Amino acid sequence: MDKKAIMDELIKNYRKNHKNSETLFKEASKYLIRGGSHNLRLFEPFPFYDAECKGSKVIDIDGNVYIDFWQGHFANILGHNPDIVIKTLIDFFNKGQGLQTGFPSIYQKELAKLILKRIKLEKIRFTTSGTLSTMYAIMLAKAYTKRELVLKVFGGWHGAQPYVLKGITTYERTLNKIESAGLPSHMESQIIITRFNDVEDLEEKFKKYGEQIACFIIEPFIGAGGFIFANKEYLKKARKLTKEYGSLLIFDEVVSGFRFHAGAVYTLYGIKPDLCVLGKAVGGGMPVSAVAGREDILELCSPGGKPEEKVKFSGGTFSAHPASMLAGFTYLKYLIENENKIYPKIGKLGEKVRVEIEGIFKNYGINVKCTGYGNSIVKHSSCVGVHFLNEEIEKITAPEQVWNPEICDVELREKIFKLAMLNEGINIFHGFGAISFAHTEEEIQSSLDAVEKIAKKWSNIK
Ligand SMILES: Cc1ncc(COP(=O)(O)O)c(C=O)c1O
Repeated sequence: MDKKAIMDELIKNYRKNHKNSETLFKEASKYLIRGGSHNLRLFEPFPFYDAECKGSKVIDIDGNVYIDFWQGHFANILGHNPDIVIKTLIDFFNKGQGLQTGFPSIYQKELAKLILKRIKLEKIRFTTSGTLSTMYAIMLAKAYTKRELVLKVFGGWHGAQPYVLKGITTYERTLNKIESAGLPSHMESQIIITRFNDVEDLEEKFKKYGEQIACFIIEPFIGAGGFIFANKEYLKKARKLTKEYGSLLIFDEVVSGFRFHAGAVYTLYGIKPDLCVLGKAVGGGMPVSAVAGREDILELCSPGGKPEEKVKFSGGTFSAHPASMLAGFTYLKYLIENENKIYPKIGKLGEKVRVEIEGIFKNYGINVKCTGYGNSIVKHSSCVGVHFLNEEIEKITAPEQVWNPEICDVELREKIFKLAMLNEGINIFHGFGAISFAHTEEEIQSSLDAVEKIAKKWSNIK
């Protein structure tokens, strides 16, 4: 397959249909770095700019219509701009409320109560991004344990904050690469990397560093690492080892929280963390994230006491913003009340997409495996990863495969297939994306038809 020729052709077609976006991109690039503020949104040759987003669909400023599986960084379980939240916020604003006040809004209490009941933890504190929440969770762990080391898995993306910017996607024979400039030099040695779902490696790391490990931060469903669920045995071992060595277990459920059922994934596994980080879906489309967990740990951020023993998880002009709290509360309440309707449907569509995509590519002699498959514990998985394999493997089970260019064709997944699908009117990310409750069976079929069209074309290119 001549990837360069395919990409050149895709870019030519994309340019033809995105004239307004190209003009806007050039203008935006005069003021913003590469025309925007989040690198993932700024794909090649230039991003399209949305004019309207509703349910499963996006319309861009050139009038192109897409079925969208990116869905707000996978946050939108109900699709874009669901009426339930929009109407509630309009009413709130019509009453002259909703903007920043600087007071602890009543909806903060409602949202806290709702979440804690579902995830079975003691206390919660809100802020505005998953990144900030993982940072505060780690600061709490370090202060509580009075230790320095952070253990994380290769492939774990916990936002762009100093304690976790190692071993994310850069696979260069070692999994231990720092992935940002500008960090304190001791970060290199303070972040320890282990392998996802690898019990032996986890035991080894605890044997070697256990007494110094403040926390093990892990996604029970790894998102950017390739849409893979952790095995129960692995999480059980993580719980056991952290207890044994006096380290804290942090579950990062920014992606998985309220994505597979109306709660956190760990409650399905029956394994309780010391702290849990939530984000994305919990804001109902507004910027909300949270650290929840044991009261004795979170108590470290309450006022009073010796400053050197306290964690400054207390800033944030916009933390627990009134409109965000109301949006989050409205949304989660709806997800909880309609849990049996929403999750089985999106899980079933997810399964259909995964199975059929593998089959389509196989029929055309292209070696593709999907991820996102549920298991005996998580029945309704709406996430789909599509991976183009350079070698025959039965199943993708770890981020080391997902990001190793010798095993998976990362360029084909992240750039070429994305643009090919866009040119067919389907917006995907990391090989496909997340299905929302707004997607219809017909739209799923149209998306599979687009995959088939691309697979057929690529099978003829030698
Ligand atoms: C698992 C996980 N943790 C944390 C974050 C950071 O969240 P945010 O982008 O809201 O800062 C992300 C973002 O994608 C994530 O996937």
